[in-house]
Amino acid sequence: MDENRKLYEIALMAKENAYAPYSGFKVGAAALTDDGIVYTGCNVENSSYGATICAERTAIAKAVSEGRKNIIKIAIASDNKKFTYPCGICRQVIWEFMSQGEIIVGNDNEIKAYKVSELLPHAFALDK
Ligand code: THU
Repeated sequence: MDENRKLYEIALMAKENAYAPYSGFKVGAAALTDDGIVYTGCNVENSSYGATICAERTAIAKAVSEGRKNIIKIAIASDNKKFTYPCGICRQVIWEFMSQGEIIVGNDNEIKAYKVSELLPHAFALDK
């Protein structure tokens, strides 16, 4: 199995821990660091909907809080037959820690890889 499919399959497993009683839309993510560690995440919803955390940001926060700020790939999975792409907020957070990295989406048949800059061109950066 190639590396991108492997990461996608890990994201699929992480999806099982999703807490999504409000939307019913479970998402999993798997972030690979430059030193080969994979941090998983899932969406964690809240009855105050705006407090919901997406799977990608859960995974990235886990990596960064463990001292790993160099993420090279993140895979995203859901039960949807269509590819699950990161939301706008997650694209901005992904850019912060892996602007040179790749975003992996997939389904049973196909895995796709995008440069972060393809999915978030002209990202906001606080250039003072
Ligand atoms: N969600 C994610 O976890 N990642 C995304 O990139 C898009 C949306 C979650 C948030 C919410 O719990 C559910 O999917 C429906 O929006």
